[in-house]
Amino acid sequence: TTGGTDEQKRRAAERAVEAVEDGMVVGLGTGSTTAFAIRAIGDLVADGLDVRGVPTSFASRELARECGIPLVDLDEVDVIDLAIDGADQVETTDGALVKGGGAAHAREKVVDAFADRFLVVADPSKTAETLSHPIPVEVLPSARSTVAATVTDLGGDPTLRRAEKKDGPVVTDNGNLVLDCDFGTIDDPNSLATSLSKMPGVVEHGIFAGLAETVYVGTDDGVDSIEL
Ligand code: A5P
Repeated sequence: TTGGTDEQKRRAAERAVEAVEDGMVVGLGTGSTTAFAIRAIGDLVADGLDVRGVPTSFASRELARECGIPLVDLDEVDVIDLAIDGADQVETTDGALVKGGGAAHAREKVVDAFADRFLVVADPSKTAETLSHPIPVEVLPSARSTVAATVTDLGGDPTLRRAEKKDGPVVTDNGNLVLDCDFGTIDDPNSLATSLSKMPGVVEHGIFAGLAETVYVGTDDGVDSIEL
């Protein structure tokens, strides 16, 4: 959420929304950058565009509803034509992402990976040559300590994510907990992704490797696109 300006985020989001066409099923990501895309899609719907949105979180569902976008559940669609989603960090060479700053990465990954096209919207504060952002790992509440121990064995430093306005942990939309796992710089995101996926009790981790088609980075005077 921090770093970029609203104008940078809005530019990236509006560029991605140019890909939305009549009749499409569109995956609606989570976060402050995607919120600009959801609002822009809402404006198009108000002008007569016929689309259905698949929300990736409680928050994106609420915003999309407010914006008048007809919604459909993931299990009711055969195809998602396009997904638009933000990221917490973007590796500029391969387009590997860290997601989950909003604890929504489990549903986001299902939607973004299933979509025919996945467009990422970001600002310059998110880009990096090598990923180094702590990896959000959603875990079954009962597996918090076992996963934390295995992450530590792997060289990571896990921290249970706590809620700001609650005396306790963040609970995801799926009723689970989040460990933010700091691995320092990550030279091989694919191999770390495989290790995390293998851990019993891990519901989903925030490394999105090989999924994005294009990353739009909004700047102060335009949009840079990274084609992958
Ligand atoms: C949600 O869990 C994340 O994956 C978001 O997509 C990410 O945090 C981007 O949010 P901002 O656009 O607010 O930075």
